[in-house]
Amino acid sequence: MNTFVVAGGTSGIGRQVARELLDAGHRVVILGRDKRKGEESLESFGPPRDRAIFLPADLSTHDGVRDAARQIDEVTDRIDGLAHSAAVFDAKGTRTADGLRLFFALGYLSRYHLTQLLLPKLLHSERPRVIMLTATLNQVPELKPELFPYFERFGLMTAISQVNGACLYYADYLAKTHPRIFAGCVTPGFVRTGLFKQAPWFIRASVALTGPFRANSVEVGARNVVQALLSGEGSSAYVWNKAGDFDRRWPITVDPAIQDSIIGSSRRVTGA
Ligand SMILES: NC(=O)c1ccc[n+]([C@@H]2O[C@H](COP(=O)([O-])OP(=O)(O)OC[C@H]3O[C@@H](n4cnc5c(N)ncnc54)[C@H](OP(=O)(O)O)[C@@H]3O)[C@@H](O)[C@H]2O)c1
Repeated sequence: MNTFVVAGGTSGIGRQVARELLDAGHRVVILGRDKRKGEESLESFGPPRDRAIFLPADLSTHDGVRDAARQIDEVTDRIDGLAHSAAVFDAKGTRTADGLRLFFALGYLSRYHLTQLLLPKLLHSERPRVIMLTATLNQVPELKPELFPYFERFGLMTAISQVNGACLYYADYLAKTHPRIFAGCVTPGFVRTGLFKQAPWFIRASVALTGPFRANSVEVGARNVVQALLSGEGSSAYVWNKAGDFDRRWPITVDPAIQDSIIGSSRRVTGA
């Protein structure tokens, strides 16, 4: 039996990932902000819930991430896989208690920070895996290091490419610095989840109008994440860009100077 941690496991794709890992006979720790949703999620898993634990965690702040890592530390000695599914669609550029843009703090920095803090537990596993959910990307976006980490001028489209691109850069960094860790990013395609509740009106309208025709089910959105966690292998970090098609993946290659800058700024701001 392997142990997996799913950040953002109390709803949407993360909850489906947790469910499938439990159904495959594993142990799962789910992280989420809301205790009620955590309990509801455990209930929804049925009998396998005996192998699931919910830990309350607000991953939008440095202290919240540290607290999550501390709680995880108390419940497991080893982590075989870590899935990052926590994110918000914050188009307003809200600042967190640490003065960072919420979109960036949750969609990239908490992933970097939590993974770094959990590295000792991950490295206790024979085949550790770290998988991040991202938007659909056909190539590695061109990152602008001068925007990191404060994103002084906030624009949603820029933030989407920079935040998701940073996840790709971090996956590559992990694969290079810890070759035993299999890392990658998965897009679920378009799935109608609570993610869009806070999106701008025109995106919500598009979701409502086109969802019935073009949305993936949450099962399809979760499929490549689960498969990557259970059986992902390869010599670099990868992106799975077509929901439900595990054979369609491309290797991540990045600009080393930009990577040094992004990882350096992540390290400075989190201390991890
Ligand atoms: N749905 C899509 O079409 C789509 C497309 C591309 C990429 N993605 C990516 O897929 C992943 C999962 O999204 P989803 O569609 O499943 O949306 P979702 O249901 O809204 O899931 C997002 C998760 O993040 C959690 N979260 C939000 N703020 C948090 C915080 N401060 N601390 C800890 N957890 C927090 C949410 O917890 P609560 O339950 O407490 O809200 C929720 O469990 C995200 O990374 C998203 O960017 C989704």
